[in-house]
This record gives sequence, C-alpha cells and structure tokens, in this order.
Amino acid sequence: MKKIINEYANYTVPFYGPAAFVVKKAKGSLVWDIDNNKYIDFTAGIAVTNLGHSNDVLTKIMQKQSKDLWHLSNLYINEPAVKLAKKLCQKTFADKVFFCNSGGESIEAAIKTARKYTSEKYNKNKNEIISFSSSFHGRTMLGIALAKAKHLTNGFAPLPKGIKNHSYNQTKNLDSLFSSKTSAVILELVQWQSGITKANKKFISKIKQLAKKHNALIIIDEVQSGIGRTGTLFAYEQFNINPDILCFAKGIANGFPLGGILTSDKIGNSMSIGSHGTTFGGGPIACSIGCSVVDIISKKSFLKKVQKKEGIFLNQLNKINSTHKCFKNILSAGLWISVEFEHSISLCLDSLIKNAHKNGLMVLKANANTIRFSPSLIIEDDLITKGLAIFEEVILQTLEK
Ligand SMILES: Cc1ncc(COP(=O)(O)O)c(C=O)c1O
Repeated sequence: MKKIINEYANYTVPFYGPAAFVVKKAKGSLVWDIDNNKYIDFTAGIAVTNLGHSNDVLTKIMQKQSKDLWHLSNLYINEPAVKLAKKLCQKTFADKVFFCNSGGESIEAAIKTARKYTSEKYNKNKNEIISFSSSFHGRTMLGIALAKAKHLTNGFAPLPKGIKNHSYNQTKNLDSLFSSKTSAVILELVQWQSGITKANKKFISKIKQLAKKHNALIIIDEVQSGIGRTGTLFAYEQFNINPDILCFAKGIANGFPLGGILTSDKIGNSMSIGSHGTTFGGGPIACSIGCSVVDIISKKSFLKKVQKKEGIFLNQLNKINSTHKCFKNILSAGLWISVEFEHSISLCLDSLIKNAHKNGLMVLKANANTIRFSPSLIIEDDLITKGLAIFEEVILQTLEK
C-alpha cells in the first residue's frame, strides 16, 4: 500500500490530500482497500454513486451499451441521449436538455446560455450574473469567480468579469445588485460548503420577485442536490421555485461522467449551432446508464425510502448528541447530512476523519468544525446504524483531553 501512496505523491499534481489507503473494490455502500480492510461509505464519491458502488443493474446496462455503441461525436445522434433528454423533460419543468460531462461544465453552459439569451432578447449589456456567498460552483475559472471565496480564487487572477456576489439567505440590499444589466442569478437551494444550509422562504421569494422585475433568469445549481439526494428528484420541487436553467451532474449516471443543463424551449432555442459544444458530453454509455438511474430514482417509493433513511440518521445522531452533547447542530436535506461540533469541544476534524478511516468509516468534511455525510441513497438501514456507532466511538477517541 505504501508504495502506491508514494507513487501517487510522486506522479500526480498535488491538488488533493487523499486518505492513507488505496481502494481496490467497492460494492453498494461498502469499500475495500488493497489490504482487504473494509469501510462503510458515508460519502458515495461525493454524492455521486447514489445507487451504490458497482450497481448490478447499471453494470449490465453499461456492458451492453459498450458493445453496441461506445462513443459518437455530437455530429451524429445516439438513441440513449435522446431517450434520457426526453425522460428528464417529462419529469421536470424543462423542454430541452444539453449534455456535458461534469458539474463545472454544466455551470459554463448555463451562464453562456443565460448571457446569450438575455443579451440578444433585451439589451447587449444584459450579461451580469448575481451569485451568493458560501456557494460552490466548481473549480473552473468561472466557477471560482461565481463562488468568490478566497480559498478558491487565490493565485488565479484575473477572474471572469460581470459577477456580483451577495450574502446567501440575506435579502437586505439584494435589490441594489439587480439592474437592467442583470442576466441571471445563480444559486444552490441547499448549500453544503458550511454545513447543509437550505435557502429560506423570504430569500427565495425576493429572488423570484427581483428576477421577474428585471427580466433576469434564475439558474439553480443542482449538481449535488439533484438526482434524489434531498428526497425528491430535484431539490427545486420542495422550494416553490421554478428554474429557468438547472445544472445537474454527479449522480445522474452514478459515477459515469455526465452532466448537463435543463431549460425551456424559449431559452434553449437562443443557443444556435456552434455556440456551444463538447466532445464527450451525452455519450451513449453515460446516457444509457442515466436513463436507468432516472427511472429508479424518480419512483415515489424510492424517494420515500430516502426520506425514511434520513430519519434513521437524524434519530441516531440526536441520540449521540443527547449522550455526549457534542453537536452544535445537526442539519439535513434528504440523505445529505451535516453535524457541526460544539465549539467548546476540543477536537481536530482531520484527526477525526483519519480515525474514522482506521475504524472502517468514510466521511466528508464540510468546514473546520463540520462533518458531512452523503451516503448512497440505497444504504442499508443496518449499515447506517453500524456506521454511526463507529462515528460515535471515533468522536470519543478523538476528543482532546
Ligand atoms: C453545487 C456544485 N456545483 C458544481 C460542482 C462542480 O462539479 P464538478 O466537480 O463535476 O465539476 C460541484 C462539485 O462538487 C457542486 O457541488
């Protein structure tokens, strides 16, 4: 194991600080390293393998599709892409879909589409974008410019222009950012960067009102919140807001790279041939997997189970908290859960995560004081219980005396 970890450090650009084990295989919500140590996975990639690792149904579909048609340029039509586009439109507000490969690219496509639509329809200067604090829209130059957080932008100037940033969930002075130049507002309805944080009602209704008044589009980034994560196919269904453009990726093909945007006919048709494109986006393998993912996840009975499993997590986390008084808050949106530790508790999250690994549990960090869980949506109830028992044990081990 050490040799591979050393070679990883020698041969890859150090963008990441990965865990100190090398994964060999994974199935459902379990992961094994090359020394055969077993881990309960509360991460699912990062909210990606919503139907579990190496899902049998999806593996079969992938194998079959790879024999029929592996890749095709977007100069030719492949049937799985058409099927998936139709399915997504039938199940959402949308009339049209554009496929790409990742969340970052879906943000690019959304902003380009918004700017082209509003600058051609209203006035040529209608290209400003309003984004919010604590957001995350990926690591492209545009994504970091939208998030506007120093830890993302440091060292990468100059950033794309035409972006104004406002405090999330704050309506005060929000109107002063809007003008005839505003093309769109982009937001996550559930943020995760500082713990699971939902947009509040007042904030949403103000955004709707201002967008309407100024003919600005509403772009909703559902790269992480979409595909069943929050207990509905897309989170917007719970927030009394209809996007003009929605960005998706992550769970759509359960880890096979696929992303995209959903939009209306009116907005989608503003993009003309050659105005945007991608080599790999909407490939037949990714889209055939995507069709099956959407079929499974959009079922009411499936989504009900996600909500039930959220309840199991919350119930057990509350029990841990009543015993140890360790959490300042426990927040959730479906199977997307964060626990913020009491500031009075002296505990280092990096050590906690390392200890969790040593004890066979994979969890994510949200910020310096907050742990995040985004398990597969099909995680077995007893694995939730076992994983949280490990979590409790690890908290006790990690407390600084
Ligand atoms: C809300 C949100 N938007 C965009 C992205 C970027 O997606 P990707 O990493 O696929 O480019 C992420 C990734 O975590 C995300 O959580």
